[in-house]
Amino acid sequence: MSRVVLRRPLLAHLTGCSFLAQVERSSAPLARLGSRCRSFSRSMYANAELTIPPPPALLQPLVVPKKLLLGPGPSNISTRVQEAGGKQIIGHMHVEMFEIMDTIKAGIQYAFQTTNNMTLAISGSGHAAMEAALVNVVEPGDVVLIGIHGVWGERAADIAERIGGDVRRFVKPPGEMFTLQEIEQALVQHKPILFFITHGESSSGVVQEMDGIGPLCHKHNCLLLVDSVASLGGVPLYMDKQDIDILYSGSQKVLNCPPGTAPLSFNDKACQKIFNRRKKPTSLYLDMSWLSNIWGCDGSPRKYHHTTPITGLFALREALAILAEQGLEEYWKLHQENAEYLHKGIEDLGLKLFVKDKAIRLPTVTTIAVPEGYEWKDITDFIMNKYQIEITGGLGPTIGKVLRIGLMGINCTKANADLVLRALKDALAQCKKSKH
Ligand SMILES: Cc1ncc(COP(=O)(O)O)c(C=O)c1O
Repeated sequence: MSRVVLRRPLLAHLTGCSFLAQVERSSAPLARLGSRCRSFSRSMYANAELTIPPPPALLQPLVVPKKLLLGPGPSNISTRVQEAGGKQIIGHMHVEMFEIMDTIKAGIQYAFQTTNNMTLAISGSGHAAMEAALVNVVEPGDVVLIGIHGVWGERAADIAERIGGDVRRFVKPPGEMFTLQEIEQALVQHKPILFFITHGESSSGVVQEMDGIGPLCHKHNCLLLVDSVASLGGVPLYMDKQDIDILYSGSQKVLNCPPGTAPLSFNDKACQKIFNRRKKPTSLYLDMSWLSNIWGCDGSPRKYHHTTPITGLFALREALAILAEQGLEEYWKLHQENAEYLHKGIEDLGLKLFVKDKAIRLPTVTTIAVPEGYEWKDITDFIMNKYQIEITGGLGPTIGKVLRIGLMGINCTKANADLVLRALKDALAQCKKSKH
């Protein structure tokens, strides 16, 4: 292995000691600092043989290929969002940054259709928002009922168990949704303090009907927590009207923003639970008493908690601005129309949609039953290699069972549907059937 040794002049330059050596002659205190610095530089020099060279790949320019992301997320980001994320940063505690955060909060209130004061973006992906919701609300021993009709409920159950919650799994086969009657039975049986459900189940391609679940939960003294990572902006959802107590999402799907800033909102009932806990939540990073302060929700002067992802927030601000300009209802309609167009094209190719009931097909992420005889990965690899288009296989309980196509935000066009249908047709003709 080649060794890189830092030479003394370079060290002096790095530590600023040549400058200190000059002033040392005229200033006694600085001279003392200078001599301390010199001995530091000598001791550093004595141990300065680096054994790990700079990685050769880092000495090459960054290369990012162009790809059309038509999987379940992330989706491509718009030029406007890219430009916002490429701006020079300002300080995370600057007044201009707080103004941007206030605008983001208003944008999330619009996207969620809520007036909740406790509305913000978590510094992290959708999982971080899921964890923030659970770690703040659930205390050890609390009974938590988790609706599982794909992979996301299982993730929520795992998080709630780590917190010490008494988790009750309420499982349906992927491809189906929960009925109000089933939910009420489970609420009566388990008497949970919290019910979790996924609105847009991106692993199965199902949209869960939300009307009526909130009132049922409240009738049984239970809070309702909803995951809208794969549905926000693409499927109608009304946090306040549908009595949802806690709602979170992600930035990288319909919003066409880089991952890393996840919208989250709590209503007053949820805040009551959070701020009357017996003990602090186990996560400091996701503690809502800190986060509510940095997002200006508690009315107190903002204090440093963590350095927020400044450019990520610029990008989220622009993504929410685009959604506000397009209008939620227009966006919902666009996603529904283009999903139906894609579904027809898939059936015209002789393929079967995984979700049998048309009424519960998720417009943002479509699942296709893996065509008989084919290896799903041969199809996704072929489409990536030949067309630079991402579509994916299943996840969790749908691995090996489905192919997934996402048309979200700026990627939600008939032209993209046509492109991916052409690529699928080609894949079916070119990939060998390897299964019998
Ligand atoms: C419905 C749903 N919930 C949660 C997540 C997790 O989000 P992230 O990957 O941003 O952590 C995803 C990601 O695909 C999702 O589709």
